[in-house]
Amino acid sequence: MTMIIPIRPDVSISANQAAIKAAREIADLLREKLNAVIGLATGGTQVAVYRELVRMHKEEGLDFSHATFFNLDEFIGIPPDHPQSFHRYMNEHFFNHVNANRRHVHIPNGMSNQPLAESARYERMIKEAGGIDLQLLGIGRNGHIGFCEPGTFPNSKTHATALTPETRKDAASSFGGLRHVPKSAITMGMATILRSKRIIMLATGKTKAKAVEAMLTGPVTRDCPGSFLQGHPNVSYYFDQSAYARVAIAQSMPTPQP
Ligand code: F6R
Repeated sequence: MTMIIPIRPDVSISANQAAIKAAREIADLLREKLNAVIGLATGGTQVAVYRELVRMHKEEGLDFSHATFFNLDEFIGIPPDHPQSFHRYMNEHFFNHVNANRRHVHIPNGMSNQPLAESARYERMIKEAGGIDLQLLGIGRNGHIGFCEPGTFPNSKTHATALTPETRKDAASSFGGLRHVPKSAITMGMATILRSKRIIMLATGKTKAKAVEAMLTGPVTRDCPGSFLQGHPNVSYYFDQSAYARVAIAQSMPTPQP
């Protein structure tokens, strides 16, 4: 007997292969629907996705000029040109190298002195754009999605949130120490994310194995916001072998007999 999980993940040998498959799914949608609304994520995992999208733009003419982009999140209190801001990340890894129309590129303003109003504005813009056709996601070691940290309600909209100690610790080395890591962020909410017509979840590396296991096989719970994806009808899961390792082991274990 093997354990059955309610989805069919695509498991690649390497992290790079998994990212390339995720990038291809985005490209396929853009070829079908030039003016697609695409939700984007940041983080180490996604660097290879953007590398592939940039390659497809340069070598295959993949056209981003009619698409609209909404990023998931941004730190509160660091300016857009800060080396660790998600604005900067997106420009360096993606927008500076493709033909996206800057007027259609949206990232929450972490420097707004009214984060509540900024969150409401962002949520409204997504709605006015007709909602997100395809949302790219990664997962944090603690199961967060965007910066929907453990405890986030499934009906949450874009909001300002405190970052958990684990999330801040994971960011510490890139910020040159824990004390430099922002304490809060603006993030799309779980409801904002779950309203996307399609979702790509990409997770790679062994540090994500526990979160992937909880997301796919654990209960649907606020303790692991990733688990809310179990209730979404159209998620493509891309993993490398290391991130999927714990699920693979559990699947191959015989079910204990009474
Ligand atoms: C950031 C975001 C986060 C990351 C997650 C994993 O925009 O969406 O949820 O996807 O923290 O980050 P990495 O890929 O750096 O492990």
